[in-house]
Amino acid sequence: MGVSFEQARTARPTPEIAPAPTAGSKGMSLKFEIQPATNPASEKERAARLVDPGFGRIFTDHMAVVRYNQAKGWHGARVESRANFPLDPAAAVLHYAQEIFEGLKAYKRDDGGVNLFRPDANARRFWNSAERMAMAPLPEPVFIEAVEQLVRIDRAWMPGGEGSLYLRPFMIASEVFLGVKPSAEYIFAVIASPVGSYFKGGPAPVSIWVSENYTRAAIGGTGAVKCGGNYAASLRAQAEAIDHGCDQVVFLDAVERRYIEELGGMNVFFVFDDGSLLTPPLGTILPGITRDSIIALAKDSGTRVREEAYTIDQWRADAASGKLKEAFACGTAAVISPIGKVCSASGDFLISGGAAGPVAMGLRKKLVDIQYGRAADPHNWIRKVL
Ligand code: PLP
Ligand code: COI
Repeated sequence: MGVSFEQARTARPTPEIAPAPTAGSKGMSLKFEIQPATNPASEKERAARLVDPGFGRIFTDHMAVVRYNQAKGWHGARVESRANFPLDPAAAVLHYAQEIFEGLKAYKRDDGGVNLFRPDANARRFWNSAERMAMAPLPEPVFIEAVEQLVRIDRAWMPGGEGSLYLRPFMIASEVFLGVKPSAEYIFAVIASPVGSYFKGGPAPVSIWVSENYTRAAIGGTGAVKCGGNYAASLRAQAEAIDHGCDQVVFLDAVERRYIEELGGMNVFFVFDDGSLLTPPLGTILPGITRDSIIALAKDSGTRVREEAYTIDQWRADAASGKLKEAFACGTAAVISPIGKVCSASGDFLISGGAAGPVAMGLRKKLVDIQYGRAADPHNWIRKVL
């Protein structure tokens, strides 16, 4: 008999999101050469694009780029006009998908300044992703400096109100070679996209589809890191969710096909009638920075939080008995989105009668108030860029 999901998961824990940085190249920094765009969008054009930005369709004028090769290490750090990359058709990323990315946001404070939320945690997760994908890890200060320089030069693109500037750091394997091996050259870049809500309905409850045909991650695989391949593999399941009238897909574990893992691009929490929270344990899921922040905020207010396996059958039973009060998805893009309806091949069920619950909305407010600088920041999560 094989190893159960629980046995395998606990035998091989994956790193938490924030292992202590060690000395050496992890701490190395670089000076960025700043080359302002010669043809930035006009003020009028920018204002028009910022009216209803949606998610991920409009972009700022600049990008940050740093290159790696074995002779020079990380070098050539620049902020320059956002433009196409010239890529040889034999570049390794185009064939073997050696690619990783991150997602974080910059928030405009009421005093006009700009906050980043836990960029150090994104930098460390990026390092872990690079190690798993056999890529050259990027020193944490270079990651943070690239993000900060881009926010500073493109500050005019910061949306007001509840909008934010979504930052997308990523790294691609650029060596021109068709042999299957870790690339000897990489391009790291950061682009920025002014965004509103990830879901069209804002924080209105979303519906999710339980994927019974496809899984996202296996033990020993890449589920715990942020590589593009995980998302490519999720698209068929996400398309199935859309076909069934749902907003997002939720994946089950790949071994027993019954433990809830996470959504295509978000972690998940459950709220019970005793006020406690439960979220699936780390292992094959992405160690979300929002997930980690919610655990900390809930614990701050004395809420019991369990990081424990939870099955789809239990979820259905707890929703029916009234033991489960709420469920919500969370992530940088989605913030906190209540889950109103769960659909699967074996039937649908509602949560909180399909409405947004008070625990999800209360945690959302707490988190967002810290991010926008409207509330105290007891965990030192905020980094003021401007
Ligand atoms: N899980 C997946 C698969 C994701 O893509 C994301 C988004 O980044 C998350 C969870 C949430 O992570 P975070 O809160 O760090 O954005
Ligand atoms: C994020 O929340 O930053 C993500 O990367 C999720 C993605 C689906 C937009």
